[in-house]
Amino acid sequence: MSMNSKAASAIVLFLVVLASCAVRKSEPVKGTYFQPKNSTVARGEQLYMIHCQKCHPGGEAGLGPAINANPAPQFLKRFQVRHGLGVMPSFKPEEISRADLHAISKYMKQWKHY
Ligand code: HEC
Repeated sequence: MSMNSKAASAIVLFLVVLASCAVRKSEPVKGTYFQPKNSTVARGEQLYMIHCQKCHPGGEAGLGPAINANPAPQFLKRFQVRHGLGVMPSFKPEEISRADLHAISKYMKQWKHY
């Protein structure tokens, strides 16, 4: 093995280790797992899994940006869901009712407190 390929292997190994660290991001920071604090939040969590998870996995970036640490007020987030933007589709009340969107909003709000 030449010096260069040894250096390349070391870099690859380093990146693999780095990547496996990055996976830990989803784990709780404070050592407590997310527990919906009431039935509305639990319902919001289910709805989120159906409608939002595929693009915002666990609130983190996927096809869409990370939204778990987004400080924007909840009404703006609900606006985003109703109207969509760019790649994000809009969800009409026939798809996500007012009550369901409210529950999703409560779910996203609880992210900030755990
Ligand atoms: C098909 C993929 C997709 C789905 C499904 C989706 N989103 Fe998005 N979302 C995006 C993309 C892409 C953006 C960025 C839009 C832009 O700025 O162009 C975005 C942006 C957002 C933003 C604004 C974030 C910011 O920093 O500007 C919020 C809040 C949001 N989405 C919430 C949701 C919620 C809640 C749901 C489920 C009801 C959802 N999204 C479903 C792709 C998606």
